[in-house]
Amino acid sequence: MKAKIQEKFQTLFGEAGDLYASAGRINLIGEHTDYNGGYVFPGAIDCGIMAEIKVNGTQKVRAYSIDFDEFVEFGLQEEDAPGQQWARYIFGVCRETVKRGGKVEGFDTVFAGDVPLGAGLSSSAALESTFAFALNDIFGNGIDKFDLAKIGQSTEHNYCGVKCGIMDQFASIFGKAGSLIRLNCKTLEYKYFPFKPEGYRLVLVDSCVKHELASSAYNKRRASCENAAAAIRKNHPEVEFLSDAKRVWLDEVRTEIPEEDFLRAEYVIGEVQRVLDVCDALERGDYETVGEMMYQTHFGMSKLYEVSCEELDFLNKLARKMDVTGSRVMGGGFGGCTINLVKDELYDTFIEEAVKQFTEKFGHAPKIYPVVISDGARKL
Ligand code: GLA
Repeated sequence: MKAKIQEKFQTLFGEAGDLYASAGRINLIGEHTDYNGGYVFPGAIDCGIMAEIKVNGTQKVRAYSIDFDEFVEFGLQEEDAPGQQWARYIFGVCRETVKRGGKVEGFDTVFAGDVPLGAGLSSSAALESTFAFALNDIFGNGIDKFDLAKIGQSTEHNYCGVKCGIMDQFASIFGKAGSLIRLNCKTLEYKYFPFKPEGYRLVLVDSCVKHELASSAYNKRRASCENAAAAIRKNHPEVEFLSDAKRVWLDEVRTEIPEEDFLRAEYVIGEVQRVLDVCDALERGDYETVGEMMYQTHFGMSKLYEVSCEELDFLNKLARKMDVTGSRVMGGGFGGCTINLVKDELYDTFIEEAVKQFTEKFGHAPKIYPVVISDGARKL
C-alpha cells in the first residue's frame, strides 16, 4: 500500500510528502453505549488508512483516492464542500480543525486503505483520524488527542449526516498495540487493558451484508434513547444520559414512552453494566463470563435494539451451537461482522463450518479477519 501511495504521489505532485496512518477498530463489548454516556471497550486493528500529505502553498486541497481511483480538488471555506463522500470526510476534518482555532492551508494528498468497507470496522473513523492527526502535526496546531477524536466525530455529524458517538474516532486515535481501551464516554476517563487471552482468539466473521439506510436507522436509535432519557429525567433530574438511569427508573416511564423506545433503552442500560462485568471478568481471566456477556449483547442488539439481521443472527446461532465461547454482532449493526471469542482448539473447525454453512444458506461466502490489536494514528 505504501509503495503504491508513494508512486502515485510522485506522479501527481512530484516531490514527496510525509506519511501518516490510522486504524480501523474492533469493540469487545459496549455497543450503542457511547452516545448514551456509557462505557465502550474498543481497540485499534491492523488495517487502516495511509496517506501521503504535503502542503502546496495554495488554499486548495488536491486529493486522490487510490481505492476509488478518483481525484478531487476543493477549497477550505464552508461553501467549498465536495460532493464525493470520501472527500467530504477530509473536507470535514479541515473545517472542524479550523472551527477549533487550528490552522489549515492547502495540501496535496494521496491515500489508500485496507479496512473492509461497510464491515462495521470504522473505515471512516480511520480516514478522519489519519487527517485529523496529520493536519495537527503538519500545521503545528497543538490540538489534544481527545479533540482530534472529536474533530472526526463532528465531521460525521456535520458533513456526513451520522450522529455517531465518540468510540470509533477515540479508538482510532488512542489505539495501542496489544491493548483494548475502556472508555467512559461521559467523563472521558479511559484505561488500557492489555489483551492477550491465553488459549483463545478473537476473529471477525464478515457477513458482507451492507444496509443502505443504516445511517438514518442509527440516528433513529439515538433519538429513541434521548427520548427515554428525557422521560426518566422528569422523575430523576440527575439523569443526564440514559446510562445514568437505573433499570427500575425506566420501568416507571414505560407507559409514557413508545414501546420501541422502551426496548432500546432496556438494551442500553443492560449493555452499560455488561462492559463493567466483562472488565472484571477479564481481570480474573474468566473468559467464559466474557463470552456469555457477548451472547447477551447479541440478544439485546437483535431483539431489543433491532440492529442485527438474518445473516448475523445465523452466524451467532451457529457459534452458540458449536460452543464458541462468545459471539455477537459488532459495531453499529445493520450488517457487517460478528466478533467471536474462540478457543484455540475450536478455531479451525469453527471457521470452516461458518464459511461452509453460511455459504450454503446465503449463496455467498463470509470473510474471515483474525483480530490483531494494533496502534492507532501515527506518523510513519
Ligand atoms: C458506530 C458509531 C459509534 C458507536 C457504534 C455502536 O460505529 O460510529 O459511535 O455508536 O456504532 O456502538
